[in-house]
Amino acid sequence: MFYGNQALYPKFCVPDSDLLTISPPTQALDPVDSSLIGVIICKLEMHASHSPATLRGYIAMLAVSAASRGHGVATALVKMAIDAMAQRNADEIVLETEETNIPAMRLYERLGFLRSKKLHRYYLNGNSAYRLVLLLKPTDLDASTDFALDEDDLAPR
Ligand SMILES: CC(C)(COP(=O)(O)OP(=O)(O)OC[C@H]1O[C@@H](n2cnc3c(N)ncnc32)[C@H](O)[C@@H]1OP(=O)(O)O)[C@@H](O)C(=O)NCCC(=O)NCCS
Repeated sequence: MFYGNQALYPKFCVPDSDLLTISPPTQALDPVDSSLIGVIICKLEMHASHSPATLRGYIAMLAVSAASRGHGVATALVKMAIDAMAQRNADEIVLETEETNIPAMRLYERLGFLRSKKLHRYYLNGNSAYRLVLLLKPTDLDASTDFALDEDDLAPR
């Protein structure tokens, strides 16, 4: 991020050392005035419906202020969340994003997330979503219901 001719970078802070089990946010602050320019909110919980049970991270929210986009702030926040959840032994990280949200889809797929399922009319506005999954440990994809792609997902993109 550049201010005048000086390269400055956002400050990233994690307010609580035991984050993710109770989902407090990780924040990016403007280096000039410490205002909030980005936030990611995650949680980590056991999914007993899977066999064997999996420890699943979930990214509930990611947002960067419009003026600060395109400088890698969201990439850094997501990488911090991935690292924090991997350190806590997560098996996978999941999230949903609107199928029309190209910046978010590009960001997550660049970081290794895979489209696992299309969720038709998932949002109140009638738009569909993709569930995206980042596998942190070896997984049997054939046995996972999360990887049940619809036919229209198989069309070339
Ligand atoms: C989606 C969103 C979080 C992305 O935030 P961002 O900070 O702009 O994302 P990044 O800067 O990390 O990545 C965006 C682009 O900047 C590029 N970039 C990364 N670091 C860069 C740098 N140092 N300098 C220039 N560009 C950079 C990335 O390569 C990426 O380009 P690409 O899309 O062509 O691959 C943001 O647009 C947003 O808040 N949108 C509204 C809320 C939303 O949709 N949230 C996601 C819901 S799932």
